[in-house]
Amino acid sequence: MLPPTLLFIALIQLARADVLRFSSYANDFVDPDYIVAGKFPNTTGEAKASIVSWANYLSASGPWSVTDKPMVAPSGSKQDYMSWAPYWWPNCTGVGNTTELTPEQIWVTCPYVNRDGQFNPDRLTINDIGAFYNLSDAVLYNALAFSFQDNHAAKFVNTWFLDSQTGMNPNLNYAQMQRGPTGQGGRDLKSFVKIVSGILILRKRKCTDWTAEIDAKMNAWTQKYIIWLETNPLGVADNHGSFCYNQLIAAKLLVNDVPGSVAASDKFFNGIYQDQINSNGEQPFEAARTRPYHYRNYNLAAMITNARLLKYADPTSDPWNRTTKAGATIKDAMDMTMTVDPNASGEARAVGEIFPNIAAIAATHGDPDGKYVAFLAKAFPEYASDASFLWDQPLAGGVAATGVSTTNTAGSGAGKGTSAAVRITGLDATVLALLVSAVVVL
Ligand SMILES: *[C@@H]1O[C@H](CO)[C@@H](O)[C@H](O)[C@H]1NC(C)=O
Ligand SMILES: *[C@@H]1O[C@H](CO)[C@@H](O)[C@H](O)[C@H]1NC(C)=O
Ligand SMILES: *[C@@H]1O[C@H](CO)[C@@H](O)[C@H](O)[C@H]1NC(C)=O
Ligand SMILES: *[C@@H]1O[C@H](CO)[C@@H](O)[C@H](O)[C@H]1NC(C)=O
Ligand SMILES: *[C@@H]1O[C@H](CO)[C@@H](O)[C@H](O)[C@H]1NC(C)=O
Ligand SMILES: *[C@@H]1O[C@H](CO)[C@@H](O)[C@H](O)[C@H]1NC(C)=O
Repeated sequence: MLPPTLLFIALIQLARADVLRFSSYANDFVDPDYIVAGKFPNTTGEAKASIVSWANYLSASGPWSVTDKPMVAPSGSKQDYMSWAPYWWPNCTGVGNTTELTPEQIWVTCPYVNRDGQFNPDRLTINDIGAFYNLSDAVLYNALAFSFQDNHAAKFVNTWFLDSQTGMNPNLNYAQMQRGPTGQGGRDLKSFVKIVSGILILRKRKCTDWTAEIDAKMNAWTQKYIIWLETNPLGVADNHGSFCYNQLIAAKLLVNDVPGSVAASDKFFNGIYQDQINSNGEQPFEAARTRPYHYRNYNLAAMITNARLLKYADPTSDPWNRTTKAGATIKDAMDMTMTVDPNASGEARAVGEIFPNIAAIAATHGDPDGKYVAFLAKAFPEYASDASFLWDQPLAGGVAATGVSTTNTAGSGAGKGTSAAVRITGLDATVLALLVSAVVVL
């Protein structure tokens, strides 16, 4: 514990650092070797501060379990993951007097019809999906913040996947159920790749909380889950195919099946990817949807994640230059998406989805004419405080720290808050409280 004066100084230092409000990326894979090497540019201090604050913010609502939901899956087990397809609505006109049907009866009686892009407000009455998003971000950010503080990642993984009372069965039989008499499931868990990122970091850092027992159990769980993904018809058919590959490739990495991981990546790049980008960079399947700006960026995040996974699994591979049938690369899809006005489709709220994608492409391909950084600097001036700025490197921007690091024990020399440019972004009472708690664990 620090003496009160030092604690106060540390608090001021932390409060000065840029802390962005937490936002969850559609997906990402963070190279564990880069993180473990710890050679971060001295401009990443604000990104680190965000990571610590996000880890604490997320941890405060964990652990999570599929058994938290208020109802039982059709199998009779709460330990089966369950969620409802968000755009499907009941059409009870053909089934008689609907005023007498309880919600539970509607779910199994009325045919459900797709209204793409229109959320059914009852979709979150069971929220395994929200819990899993929180879990995956919490595992990733706790693992990333490991050199800065205590971490809860191992405990969270154990509660969600492994504990005999709270652990999830390794299937998605009841995920994104469309409901109705024939409704079936099979999607979700795309952010499993974030959990894999986190676990690889814990393993490589030899985190003592990540015990041999947890590691063996998680491998066994993942082996079963891979079998489900590869053999169950619900696992194989998936309209967010790029995300499905995110999980499969990552799951194989987790169980050390590197050749399997590379083979799954090749299946993506030689398969559905081939039709996903036109010669002008347009993503035709995403453009046709009702929220095209969101879906272009959503699929970009998945393609970027697949490329990062393949590059990690096989450093000699060249996913970033892989072309579709039309001769286009992921970068072409990025460049085209940057020219789209989200307001044109009434999607002003989706504007932030493009930022981590741009950072990823700039870090990978370089930014010789500065167009990526110029876009970020204009639309998202705080981009160097975003967590992804830590790993989307090299990328211009950020404040080079000159002070002594208050948090990083990995020796990267990044201090915080010594810059005169004090910008506190999205700092509310909650985040301030978390900053205080971050200081307490220093
Ligand atoms: C709703 O059900 C009725 C009766 O079965 C049918 O005529 C109608 O086409 C359905 N509406 C939609 C949008 O599917
Ligand atoms: C449905 O049944 C209830 C109770 O029997 C009745 O009061 C109501 O009028 C019926 N509604 C329709 C649309 O038939
Ligand atoms: C997920 O975390 C957010 C805070 O980021 C919290 O508001 C929400 O209730 C959590 N949801 C679940 C299902 O845990
Ligand atoms: C897009 O719409 C939002 C609000 O709906 C507005 O604040 C913003 O300025 C618009 N952007 C452009 C480029 O027109
Ligand atoms: C694409 O291929 C060129 C030529 O082999 C190589 O120099 C470049 O690094 C590749 N791009 C990426 C982003 O790996
Ligand atoms: C930050 O790193 C860059 C590149 O390594 C170096 O040129 C610069 O002097 C460093 N700045 C500070 C303040 O340490």
